[in-house]
Amino acid sequence: MTLKLFLVYSFIKKNAKFSTSDPKGPLSLPIIGGLYCLISRDPPQLRLHSLSKKYGKLMSIWFGDNYSIIVNDASLLTEMNSKNFKIFSDRPPTPTLRLFSPDFNDLLMGPHKTWKPIRHALSPHFTKTKTSELWSDAINEYGEQLTRKLKEHAQSGELLKLNDFFKKYTFAVACKVIFSYKIEYTDTIQDGLMGKTFGPLERMITKMAHGQLFETIHALSPIYYMLISKIGNEIEDVKGEVRKYVKEHVQTIDKNKPRDMLDFMILQDYDEDLLTNVTFDLMITGVETSANTLSWAALFLVNQPHIQEKVSSELRDAFGLDTRVQSNNKQDTPYTHAMLKEVLRYKHIAPIGFPRVALEPIVIDGCFIPKGTHVIPNYYTILRDPNCFPNPDVFMPERFLTNERLESYLPFNVGERNCLGLHVAMDEMYSALANIFKNFKISSPTGKQLDESEVAGIAIHPLNHAYKIEAR
Ligand code: HEM
Repeated sequence: MTLKLFLVYSFIKKNAKFSTSDPKGPLSLPIIGGLYCLISRDPPQLRLHSLSKKYGKLMSIWFGDNYSIIVNDASLLTEMNSKNFKIFSDRPPTPTLRLFSPDFNDLLMGPHKTWKPIRHALSPHFTKTKTSELWSDAINEYGEQLTRKLKEHAQSGELLKLNDFFKKYTFAVACKVIFSYKIEYTDTIQDGLMGKTFGPLERMITKMAHGQLFETIHALSPIYYMLISKIGNEIEDVKGEVRKYVKEHVQTIDKNKPRDMLDFMILQDYDEDLLTNVTFDLMITGVETSANTLSWAALFLVNQPHIQEKVSSELRDAFGLDTRVQSNNKQDTPYTHAMLKEVLRYKHIAPIGFPRVALEPIVIDGCFIPKGTHVIPNYYTILRDPNCFPNPDVFMPERFLTNERLESYLPFNVGERNCLGLHVAMDEMYSALANIFKNFKISSPTGKQLDESEVAGIAIHPLNHAYKIEAR
């Protein structure tokens, strides 16, 4: 009887209106709310995409006990995150986010008060012009190693699993810039610091993906905590590794000669916990994102050799075979730059974005959003809006040579809390792709199309295909 009452109560609560102008959304079932809508063989972004066609630009859905709004439209995302930034500046303190950052004392998860001064202090190292000083040496150094690796494989004829090398490249760049850690050319991704950080992080994210459904149903959250108690330890292990470099930097810093990003943070008088947390944030956000986008780019260019040929000829016409392409050469090779943008549009590595929370009630586009609502950008739908990107399901770099609706192109989100590393990411990805496709032809070993299935992880990535590499 009590259970029946609870189910009725839950059904009524989750289908009741907050106002006369709530965003539309699917019917909520007791307890699970609209979670049933995601049960499918298709990835969740495809389910949300098809729901967006029915419910429109702003769509409400109960994920278990969390009332959420999915933002399916670029101009509304801009209205929320730029114009109304103060209301949408924070992340919801969900158990999963708390695992990464138990006291939210950091950059990625921190509430506005904590986040603002950290972001302010780090931003000068990530601007379009300053990017070059700190990051470009590392991008060049490790980009050269990447091309050397391809050269070896072109000479030996041995196939190359590029995903691993893209991870190594972006990890090496990040570690050098953040705390001057040097990855050895011969290290594999299981060795050294990479093995101690990415192994546990990947395992943990996979376990979280399984447990997350329980997280949203508050009555079941003890099961979730049980499932992830192990995961929490793994995050602490990874942070423990990072802390070693923090301690070493604190002891060896020369305040007149900051060596890297960590030294710059020490000069801000951050304590050891904050230094560790922010360094950890930069590693989580700055490695897999770009590496996986590079993996998708390679796969799409292998499966569409005519696009690879266009990119390659543009690069060779602009630079010849012997000159290394620099990250600031993007404007000299508009098609290659457009190809990179198209990869980010066509295969966003986090198609359902990182959540924010409404700190106050607000009306957006005539829809009422109550305080406490989780707000989730749906990059998949936004970046496939046919009004902004005609034929959105076709991979077509040319669209960025002529597209005038660039304000709709938001793979890095928008507003004060958009991606801090967007210029770094574009520089390191452009530089790697340009130097690879200028010098090498990459193809499928069997000559057949390679599988473009997605694998979930810290960010979504393709299968770890082995590629045939030939010198141009
Ligand atoms: C393909 C590459 C990348 C993509 C698509 C991407 C996308 C994003 C997105 C969508 C956000 C969420 C913004 C929000 O809260 O709404 C974000 C946050 C962030 N990204 Fe990136 N990112 C990429 C690469 C990088 C790189 C290379 C770095 C660092 C070197 C980086 C650092 C960060 C940081 C620190 C945040 C948190 C910002 C904050 O809360 O203030 N990202 N990124």
